[in-house]
Amino acid sequence: MTNEPGPAGLSGSELGKQRAGRFAAGFVESGMKVGLGTGSTVHHTMVALAEKSLDIACVATSRRTEALARELGLRMITADEAGRLEIAIDGADEVDPMCHLVKGAGGAHTREKVVAEMADKFVVVVDDSKLVEALGAFGLPIEVLDFAPGIASARLEALGAEMVTVLPERSDGGNVLLRVMFEVIEDPAELAASIKAIPGVVEHGLFLNWCVARVIVGTSEGQVRQIFPPH
Ligand code: 5RP
Repeated sequence: MTNEPGPAGLSGSELGKQRAGRFAAGFVESGMKVGLGTGSTVHHTMVALAEKSLDIACVATSRRTEALARELGLRMITADEAGRLEIAIDGADEVDPMCHLVKGAGGAHTREKVVAEMADKFVVVVDDSKLVEALGAFGLPIEVLDFAPGIASARLEALGAEMVTVLPERSDGGNVLLRVMFEVIEDPAELAASIKAIPGVVEHGLFLNWCVARVIVGTSEGQVRQIFPPH
């Protein structure tokens, strides 16, 4: 556990994000190909990577991340150019005790899942407000084709969704983004498989723990601890 004093003015959650994000940059070495997630926590990782002036090549999970990374002077390549990644670092919206995740508040979960799967090590960075006993309360982001979002929504309701909201923004791929409320997600693997089987669903924001190497948690007191999935 590390416990560095925090800069004045950072809220507990923001301090936790900064600590976790910067800690993860310590896993990156020159020569690596690195997947960069999307969001305010991994933002801190990117700033720390730029400060270290490493010789790395990065793959971005969103246009937003790509723009920030270029601004910071990080070298960018496409996912196809990379092929494999030594490491990918990304945030999450919920983390359960088994290290299953809900992701996608930034609407980037489809590209994030591709990049996580490409990586030898997928490292998750969160502040401690993201730790939950069971997934669900945040709502599950789901990307669907704009051909028939109403049909996809009806299929999701048949799976037990209590509320399906169509978000005003689109994904980077131009698809429709839904936020779907399931009361409590008792069995993430079963729900993930059921949602994936709905025609028109491009990707959902459930990330099962088989893809997670470790979760780095920054606390509101400025400490960092790590959680490992049971595999
Ligand atoms: C974007 C994501 C983000 O990683 C997630 O929303 C966490 O964001 P933040 O670090 O800003 O709390 O999945 O699609």
